[in-house]
Amino acid sequence: MNAVQPNMTPRAINRLDYRTPDYRIDKVALEFDLEPRATRVVAKLDIRAERPGALVLDGEALKLVSLSIDGRPLSQSDYVVDEKSLTIHAPPQKFTLRIETEIDPEGNTHLSGLYRSSGNYCTQCEAQGFRRITYFLDRPDVMATYLVTLRADPKACPVLLSNGNPQEEGTLADGRHYKVWHDPYPKPSYLFALVAGDLAVLEDDFTTQGGREVKLRIYTEHGKSERAGYAMDALKRSMRWDETRFGLEYDLDLFNIVAVSDFNMGAMENKSLNVFNDRYILADPQTATDADYAAIEAVVAHEYFHNWTGNRITCRDWFQLSLKEGLTVFRDQEFSSDMRSRPVKRIQDVRNLRARQFPEDAGPLAHPIRPDSYIAIDNFYTATVYEKGSEVIRMMHTLLGEDGFQKGMKLYVERHDGEAATCDQFVAAMADANGYDMEQFKLWYSQAGTPSLNISGRYDAGSGSYELSVTQECPPSPGQPDKQPMHIPLHVGLLDAQGQDIPLRLEGEATAMPGRVLSVKQPQQTFRFIGLPEPRALSLNRGFSAPVNIKAEIGGAERAFLMAHDSDAFARWEAGQQYATDLLLRRVNNGTGFDADFIDAIGLILRDDSLEPAFAAEAIALPSEDYIADQMPVMDAEAVHLARRALRRQVAETHKASLLRIYDSASGSDAYSPDAEQAGKRALKNAALSYLSELAAEDAGILARIDGQYAKADNMTDRMAALRLLVDLDVPERAAALADFHDRFKDDALVLDKWLSLQAISALPDTLERVKALLSHPAFSMRKPNKVRALVGGFCMNALRYHAADGAGYAFHADRIIELDPLNPQVAARLLAPLGRWRRVDAARQARMKAELGRILSVPKLSPETYEIASKSLSG
Ligand code: TRP
Ligand code: ZN
Repeated sequence: MNAVQPNMTPRAINRLDYRTPDYRIDKVALEFDLEPRATRVVAKLDIRAERPGALVLDGEALKLVSLSIDGRPLSQSDYVVDEKSLTIHAPPQKFTLRIETEIDPEGNTHLSGLYRSSGNYCTQCEAQGFRRITYFLDRPDVMATYLVTLRADPKACPVLLSNGNPQEEGTLADGRHYKVWHDPYPKPSYLFALVAGDLAVLEDDFTTQGGREVKLRIYTEHGKSERAGYAMDALKRSMRWDETRFGLEYDLDLFNIVAVSDFNMGAMENKSLNVFNDRYILADPQTATDADYAAIEAVVAHEYFHNWTGNRITCRDWFQLSLKEGLTVFRDQEFSSDMRSRPVKRIQDVRNLRARQFPEDAGPLAHPIRPDSYIAIDNFYTATVYEKGSEVIRMMHTLLGEDGFQKGMKLYVERHDGEAATCDQFVAAMADANGYDMEQFKLWYSQAGTPSLNISGRYDAGSGSYELSVTQECPPSPGQPDKQPMHIPLHVGLLDAQGQDIPLRLEGEATAMPGRVLSVKQPQQTFRFIGLPEPRALSLNRGFSAPVNIKAEIGGAERAFLMAHDSDAFARWEAGQQYATDLLLRRVNNGTGFDADFIDAIGLILRDDSLEPAFAAEAIALPSEDYIADQMPVMDAEAVHLARRALRRQVAETHKASLLRIYDSASGSDAYSPDAEQAGKRALKNAALSYLSELAAEDAGILARIDGQYAKADNMTDRMAALRLLVDLDVPERAAALADFHDRFKDDALVLDKWLSLQAISALPDTLERVKALLSHPAFSMRKPNKVRALVGGFCMNALRYHAADGAGYAFHADRIIELDPLNPQVAARLLAPLGRWRRVDAARQARMKAELGRILSVPKLSPETYEIASKSLSG
């Protein structure tokens, strides 16, 4: 690579180099004079030395105005400032440092630090944004109490918010007003937040189990506060749930949420002042889908749950990120499972894990849930740290049971409340509270890659015993050529010919139980069940008890049997997914037809009215094109697309009558409610319509149903489901519906995101041309992460068009990264990952993808964020 000169290569930080800080900051007083282009920040920091020596504070994009210690201004020779830090050569042992800086919120396109969104001021400090506000020890193990004074023009900023409790407010001589906030809980700088502006508010209240009266407020842009009602309801349910399931109560008298439209991620758990991407707050039936409502519920819960798992107990260093994120994702997933259908939630979480985390674990960016090294920590807010991190917590829950897990949580909170902790300390609390040996289990924190289990079962009629042989293997990943065997909880069951669970007794044990969790620990291991009749089918990894790939010789008839009978709903769904995957891979490799057993099994589900509709919708949905492509040695997006379309068509032709019955009998009469039950019915109806759309070209009645649903829908779920089908059809109704959708919602940024992404994921051949044209549409802006994710991110997810043989998709992608990197490196780097998949495609495409990565790396002044992803993608 000619790319970056070696002396400019950003430096990696290593986990094992951790040292406790040389200095502590116990108290922080901040004063802000808010002005769009020149905000003045005065920081008064109570500092004490842990070790003698220079004090090195982090700082970035700051203008230093003045500096004094205990009231005495520092002279030029006392300190030195560079692009990234402020060093004070010989400070006293204990002192107050006063720093005055000037920052430019309006010019801040990185959306990190203090910036403006729709004219309002807001902050984003995780992971390292606080250093863009003032010089500081910007690391999570430095915890302080904060006293914050905000001063601003009362007309521009009637609302002034920060963490903790409001303490004082008033008007200044110059007509500006001020407000003082105090947060009594020591916190790391990444949890600091301020918001100032002209905002509408929705208010409610909540009384905790212990009798604390808490004011709840959700701030939005004017005219949008009614759309925060569902988020408020989700917040109250989250607060109650954390009390009943985890025994954790809220700890202040006020809890604020602010929704902003420009945000790099989903939302942020700042102490008592959560800041949200407004897509995870705003919803009404006309503009939000059922999936949007579910996501709002999950993200509101997630950020609220961080108050204990993240804020009260935070991370010692950023390598421990999964300590708060994996655990908090586990908690939000459990919350949604308790609020909705547990099996359906599990299915959706596994789908998501396979779509986002498995490819990461198999590619050049693979890392353990607790990484060992990073260049830019912002690049490690990954599906691995979050979603696999949650799976690791879930495995502990499976091994210890709910009671054991809660005992471990209790001990963890007792030991570490108010501290910055490590993943090892979390596992130690789980182990100590239960007297459970977790040493081998801890490898889940240090080894990357998705393990795979090779499983075979054999029944011996003579002795009435069943032997299950399991071998485990974990593929090499960057920096980890050899893996040690892991401790894998494997939930298995055996079904008899009637589809009933056979009670299982392991040799040497006294009791039998239907289905059980085996602890797989060795590279190769055999489990022997005794005293049982001949089983009809083997059910593996029930509930997805471990995030692994399973290889087992299970025939089509056995899979169809499991699809119809498995008592574990997840395994029932999984049987269908694996059966369809087998068929589609066979089709792709040798053009074979599809088994009647599979088509029949889908028919049974369609005609089984006893099934929960949301489950039936999942059970008839084929695995995604990406999942199937991931199972091929060399992926071929087009072949997969055609095979999947063919299977969909065959299901639609065979079961047209059942699909029409489901669709036509779905009642549209109830007033819309986003609850799980109604949402499930809509999901099944729309899944049926999706199959039927394969017949739209020859059946005018079907096209009329799709187009009619688009036009007459009284809610966004149905309208968008119909439009999703239309964008893949080359019919005149397509353009008309897209134009109508645009005009209907032209003032609603969140709905226009949907409009952009639907066009970006279309299977039609001219998709890239349309996407390019949309770059100059007023609904698009490179400065708005939601727009970039919808259009550019949407297109890069469209494997069929992204992997066009001529490389136009790759070139388009690289052009956008190069354009975005100077504006918003965090978002640019996150958007880059698909180019790293080059090892998965044929040689000609590989060359094109690598060339685009090289082109990105040759850009002068490339950000460290994008540099890290691009360079690891090429070499990792
Ligand atoms: N901690 C946030 C969460 O709940 C993640 C987050 C929000 C974030 N904004 C960010 C991470 C900006 C990095 C940069 O998961
Ligand atoms: Zn989080």
